[in-house]
Amino acid sequence: MTSSPRRWRSSLTIYVLLASALLLASTTITPSAPSIAYAAPFFPYSSSVSQNNTKRQTTTDLDPAHYRTQLYKSDKVIEEFEDLLNSPTLDSCQMCRRGMKMAQEFSLEAPELVPGVLRILCTRYSFMRLDSCAGLMVRLGPELAEIFSQMDVDGSDGYYACAYGFPGSCPVPKHQPANPTIFPKPKPANAVQPPPSGQSMQVLHFSDWHLDPLYRPGKEAQCSHNICCRDYGSWNDPGPVKKPASKWGEPKCDTPIALGLSALEAIQRFVPNATFGLFTGDIVSHDYWLITEKYVADLETRSYELFKQYLQEMRLYVVLGNHDSYPSDQAPARHKPEQYSTHQWLYDHVATVWEKNEWITSIEADYARSHNAMFMTKPMPGLKLITLNTDLFYVRNYYNMLDTDQDDPSGLFHDLILELQDSEDRQERVWIMGHMAPVTLTLPRSSILFQRVVARYSPHVIAGIFTGHYHQDKLIVMHDPDAEEHTQASAVNVVFQGPSITPLDKANPAIRWYDVDPKTFSILDSHTVTADIITQADYWESHDLEPEWILEYSARSTYSDPLNPLPAGEPLSPAFWQSAVERMKDDEELFGKYIQYQSKSSAVAKECLWGTICEAETRCELQASTVLEHDDCEAMLEVEGAGVGRKGGRKPKPSRWKRFGVTRSGRTLNVNEYNRERGIVA
Ligand SMILES: *[C@@H]1O[C@H](CO)[C@@H](O)[C@H](O)[C@H]1NC(C)=O
Ligand SMILES: *[C@@H]1O[C@H](CO)[C@@H](O)[C@H](O)[C@H]1NC(C)=O
Repeated sequence: MTSSPRRWRSSLTIYVLLASALLLASTTITPSAPSIAYAAPFFPYSSSVSQNNTKRQTTTDLDPAHYRTQLYKSDKVIEEFEDLLNSPTLDSCQMCRRGMKMAQEFSLEAPELVPGVLRILCTRYSFMRLDSCAGLMVRLGPELAEIFSQMDVDGSDGYYACAYGFPGSCPVPKHQPANPTIFPKPKPANAVQPPPSGQSMQVLHFSDWHLDPLYRPGKEAQCSHNICCRDYGSWNDPGPVKKPASKWGEPKCDTPIALGLSALEAIQRFVPNATFGLFTGDIVSHDYWLITEKYVADLETRSYELFKQYLQEMRLYVVLGNHDSYPSDQAPARHKPEQYSTHQWLYDHVATVWEKNEWITSIEADYARSHNAMFMTKPMPGLKLITLNTDLFYVRNYYNMLDTDQDDPSGLFHDLILELQDSEDRQERVWIMGHMAPVTLTLPRSSILFQRVVARYSPHVIAGIFTGHYHQDKLIVMHDPDAEEHTQASAVNVVFQGPSITPLDKANPAIRWYDVDPKTFSILDSHTVTADIITQADYWESHDLEPEWILEYSARSTYSDPLNPLPAGEPLSPAFWQSAVERMKDDEELFGKYIQYQSKSSAVAKECLWGTICEAETRCELQASTVLEHDDCEAMLEVEGAGVGRKGGRKPKPSRWKRFGVTRSGRTLNVNEYNRERGIVA
């Protein structure tokens, strides 16, 4: 085939037009979820929330002449970014901060073009898959434009945005909250737990439902996307299906409706007599690059309705997880009314459903509407339940990159302290529930504040802390911030990180209940029930069987010290748990059980053997109370190196993100080097 110069020129024109159209399209078209019928009879479902909520200006609102100028601007700004990346004189932190400055200028000048530019940069520097980049930036771009516009880029905001938005560019800021934290009253002397009543009741806990209405049995279960078992089309994973998705779920997929219903039936069977229940968040599937506001709202309404249908009169208390918002992870705090108002629809929506299901009162629902869906309630006389929207300290909520010079810009800790003080004054006990334990993936200052608050109001007020998020059954023993060593005496409280319903991340699904003292609300035992989806799903399907849910373990009998057993009726104290953590160091069997239960005996879980570095890391996780303690614990392992690993050395952890510092000119600089150069002592 020959091509004349004229033909070449015209195809070049077509190419340029196409490229321009693509750039524009990325800012105008919201790709909807694949047009496949939802799993009947649960979808379609019509909720009152519509696409009406899309509130910011898009390129369709602009006239064509304006378009062209703006397009030119996009090209210019991308060029400038690339020059910056190739700068031979700047280190990666300076480079990133200069980039933030440019992002701010561009956001102020042409906010409607920010998603398109971000999409191109995301794709070019392969932070993630092409389609994920496109979908995510369409969703997140307008919010980022707003956040860039408001940021104090030259101050600590810019620094935070680099450290968390581009890990490895600037070192993570070690902003310490004011010392000491102001509490309304000093801690009473001899603050002790009330004596056990000898009675017991049950409380249900489940988490991370992540229902996928687009799950399709028979589709590829080992796809290249981050959630599989969907009909993405043959372009995604060409060739024959490697592993057809089972009806009941797969380790790389979110929850099919069949599994969700089976889990709710297991709750009915195992815990019909629970006094009330806790759901620690994440209703929505993990396809953050495809979700729409309507999809999120519908999935929430429908799932809460299912919970209600199965739990009937049992009250369920629900928190929002990072996947329960649109875009994922984002939550502006109420001290920013203009930003809050663009997310108001979500808080209105969930509060209305919770109220309609008679889980909370209309007063509590009103409070939730104006407080990021957080509320306080009294499940029983003598017990206050405080719920947290943990996105307000999550490092992937980019609204947290604003007002970073303040300790508590959202007011979350202020409110938490007032409520705890109120309960201390009334001699009432408190449970705290949220989606994420503020120990990892949390702003360091928030995790320090949380630790101080927990230490101030434990053990006499705070009787339980419950979270989810990691799709793993994990525990954190929280310690006194002033303790020099972690001992049974320094243990102040425990966070129960509940397992998930979704098998995604290679864990079997599970539900659990606690035996609770109905007078003191201390935890007497935790019972976890699981079904081995990972190895049995295909067998159950081919034999037309339902999943078999079995009681996996009781915490009290598993972790009790045989030489020093807990007296009957005594709760599982922080010291009980710290003793178990300490014994794991010498007891291979005990450590093995913790690891086995962590993934719910998943046959495909990452190996973690006693005597390896993984054991030491697990013990770091088990007793670090803050992000900094966790980092310090891991850094100690780094220093001790292979010496810690009795059966093998340490492999560096692969990063999910391409380091921002790795530029085309090949410059890299890691955080430690940067710290050393700048004289920053971690
Ligand atoms: C969208 O908003 C308008 C005006 O507020 C309202 O009348 C309309 O019913 C909404 N559409 C849907 C589908 O909810
Ligand atoms: C629930 O309570 C009823 C009535 O007290 C009792 O008969 C039943 O065994 C209990 N079920 C479970 C699973 O504990």
